[in-house]
Amino acid sequence: MSRVRVAVLISGRGSNLEALLVACKAPDFPAEIVLVISNREDAQGLQVAKDAGVAIKVIPHKQYSMREEFDAAIDDALRAANVSLVCEAGFMRIHSEWFVKTWEGRLLNIHPSLLPAFPGIRVHQQALDAGVKISGCTVHFIVPELDSGPIIAQAAVPVSPSDTAGTLAARILVEEHRIYPEALKLVAAGKVKLKNGKAVFLPSP
Ligand code: GAR
Repeated sequence: MSRVRVAVLISGRGSNLEALLVACKAPDFPAEIVLVISNREDAQGLQVAKDAGVAIKVIPHKQYSMREEFDAAIDDALRAANVSLVCEAGFMRIHSEWFVKTWEGRLLNIHPSLLPAFPGIRVHQQALDAGVKISGCTVHFIVPELDSGPIIAQAAVPVSPSDTAGTLAARILVEEHRIYPEALKLVAAGKVKLKNGKAVFLPSP
């Protein structure tokens, strides 16, 4: 079975990267992670990649004055590794429109809220401040508008009155680790595609 070659983009801890790596160990998983790119050389997730024997590349955004130049360096690394799909997992940079259009339909992200609620940063605090009783996480195709791409998978978790941003984040993270591999599996197997700005799911045979 030929597997789709995937790169994971990270900026930090790398727990979602780890969940994807574990999923890729299954013999019938349709994707393999061949490259991990971080914009920070101190990202803990780089060690996760090394431990799994996956190639790593650090591309520090601070070395580039223009967003497009930083994205061009990422694009070069992805092409050099013959990557077909990109999963962003806690990658805390916003891409240029050029990069997003170039990788359209092949660029996924996980976000720790039930989008379209609470895009951006300080997501768990936003949810607590809004007083929602349910939050969760979303895997979506990336489009140029931040955190607003077509949705591939979501999971909900209850919000308790005693929650802090930290306790809520921990509860949501468990679900992130479950749905990101599921979403990657669907996209890598060609069962969901981005078409005319929508996530189109193929009916199961
Ligand atoms: C995750 O909770 C992910 O959803 C979030 O960063 C965390 C990264 O954790 N991403 C965003 O907020 C993107 N807007 P990880 O490095 O352990 O996977």
